[in-house]
Amino acid sequence: MVWRGAFSEGRGIPAVASEAFARDGVIVIEDFVTPAQCAALRQRAMELVEEIAPQSPGTVFSTLDNRHARDRYFEDSANGIGAFFEEGAFAGDGALQVPLARAINKLGHAMHDLDPVFSAFSRGPRLQAVADAVGLVDPLVVQSMYIFKQPGIGGEVVCHQDSTFLYTDPESVIGFWFAIEDAHRGNGCLGGLPGEHAKGLRDLNRRQRDGSLRMERLRPDIEWDMSKLEWLEVKQGTLVVFNGAFPHLSEANTSPESRH
Ligand code: FE2
Repeated sequence: MVWRGAFSEGRGIPAVASEAFARDGVIVIEDFVTPAQCAALRQRAMELVEEIAPQSPGTVFSTLDNRHARDRYFEDSANGIGAFFEEGAFAGDGALQVPLARAINKLGHAMHDLDPVFSAFSRGPRLQAVADAVGLVDPLVVQSMYIFKQPGIGGEVVCHQDSTFLYTDPESVIGFWFAIEDAHRGNGCLGGLPGEHAKGLRDLNRRQRDGSLRMERLRPDIEWDMSKLEWLEVKQGTLVVFNGAFPHLSEANTSPESRH
């Protein structure tokens, strides 16, 4: 079972959590964010959708075919704030079949630098304490996403490792995943394979000489043991921290509630 526990304002997270992180590649820190903070972030995300989505080109974010990766708008969003759509938001004729606020898959990928609300949320002594506890020596925030997992159409995210897309040499990426709303099996919560990060990084999304991106299989010998799959059902305010090589996924959200 993945380690679950609380953050102590004086002591941070216990040594057993650091050990569990090394062993499993993932830990769950409950009640890390207050309901008021979650509400403020949610509110700001909705404002950004209203500001940005009407001008966006309608790029669909899909991990099933990675079509967004061929899109200039997606690439430019590394240093900006872009809005990406759910595939299920569009009808056969290409028209939106849900309101704009319910059509967006995610916002990304530099809110932590460009938006004051996200910037404040992304930094501070409590996050520093967690970063220290999981072995980050000189933490830098490199990417932020706000994922909506929209009711009814929130798309599946296939099993992957974040270091496939955020690569450093040596590997150093750690993901901080915050539940802005309750996440459970019904609305497409996170799932992952504890311990499988130790096998190493399987794929690398690498820039080719012609400028395109291609998924390369670095380690054909790696097979993930899907029998280890553990669903990480969590309450609003929970922080899930995971190693860049931790394989994780989420199912489509077919329920009537979102999973921000
Ligand atoms: Fe991921």
